[in-house]
Amino acid sequence: MLADQYGLPLTTSVPEARDAYVSGIDHILAATFGASDAFAAAVAADPGFALGHVGLARARMYDTDMPGAQKAMATARDCATQLTQREAAHLTVFELLLQGRISETRRAVQDHVADYPRDVLVAQICTNIFGLIGMSGEPGRESLQLAYTTQLFDALGEDWWIMSVHGQALCEVGQLDEAMSMMERSLALNNVNANASHFKAHTLYEQGAGEAGRAYLADWIADYDERSVLHGHLSWHRALWALEQEDEAELWGIYGDAIAPAASHSMPVNVLTDAAALLYRAEIAGLDVAPELWSDLSDYASRFFPNPGMSFADIHSALAYAMAGDGDRLATLAETQSGFAADLVRPVARTWGAIARQDWTAALQYLTPTMADHARLGGSRAQRDLLELTYLNLLLKSGHAEEAHRTIMARRPVFSHAAPVAGFA
Ligand SMILES: [Fe+2]
Repeated sequence: MLADQYGLPLTTSVPEARDAYVSGIDHILAATFGASDAFAAAVAADPGFALGHVGLARARMYDTDMPGAQKAMATARDCATQLTQREAAHLTVFELLLQGRISETRRAVQDHVADYPRDVLVAQICTNIFGLIGMSGEPGRESLQLAYTTQLFDALGEDWWIMSVHGQALCEVGQLDEAMSMMERSLALNNVNANASHFKAHTLYEQGAGEAGRAYLADWIADYDERSVLHGHLSWHRALWALEQEDEAELWGIYGDAIAPAASHSMPVNVLTDAAALLYRAEIAGLDVAPELWSDLSDYASRFFPNPGMSFADIHSALAYAMAGDGDRLATLAETQSGFAADLVRPVARTWGAIARQDWTAALQYLTPTMADHARLGGSRAQRDLLELTYLNLLLKSGHAEEAHRTIMARRPVFSHAAPVAGFA
């Protein structure tokens, strides 16, 4: 029986199908462009290869081609006649995921990896910032993420993929030396893994090593296909460092080339959240943001996230709506009951509305209670610095300069000497 790169048997007897399948897995794990083509080649070589169709469905989910993903899963089910127990369970997990049955999927993934920790396409569903643990809305989800990746790292060992997602989990709980060690070991095994370069950049950000980070990513991204899933987001990291280092020309150049909705090839959740966060962080750093950038983004948010539910996206939609003056759109989010952290979306949406009216006192009142546990909204620490820096800015705007300094020192000491907020000194 043929096997994948993790030694798991595959129900196909066609070597070309296996080889293309293995390549598709590598693309998913490394966040590189080419997964859909690779899985399509696998099922072209063996049309009865059920897991090849499942892989194609997963790749199409990343392409945000949901009808294509449904079609591939239906074909996988049609082919699922003589699968191993592992393959049958693998297929079921992805059916649950595609049906949007999120809590059942998460339980199924955890059961599956207990038996088959080397089944990485399934294991991967609960890793990453936008995975099922990251977007669970649960208190303590960063620790749950670390527990999950620790379990996988214990099983997989010196594997470039698990080290990159385990390093991410370590970074997000503040174990920066351990995170950097994981990333360096991962990159030494596979330097094209964008999950590793991404969280090496995060670790440098958390260490306050902005100049090293900016140089590292500028070099690394030169060989990364702009159609890849993390290209827009890595560009966001570069643009943030350009902002911090007062290189406005590079900031807007990167925004226009790789982050703005018209330019980015990323998934909508990245396009929206990266663009909104960058524009507002530029504003509170004291730069002028062209109003049409906000109205373009408001239209994008309304088109791709018409219904509340993905709370991390929702707070960024609300920001775009408020800054673009789209009060009706904002009002929906300010009252929403939908989403894994809707109780936090409402006050954050009201915060943006008050900021748009320049009512700093009201904005501060809305935002303050959300600061206790905004990790429940999802996103990385670097992404949620949108809220940290907004909070700092509101304290300054409200005349609480001393509290602003004490707060940033307590909450985000990496910014205590040079927060990218106008008037902070
Ligand atoms: Fe990031």
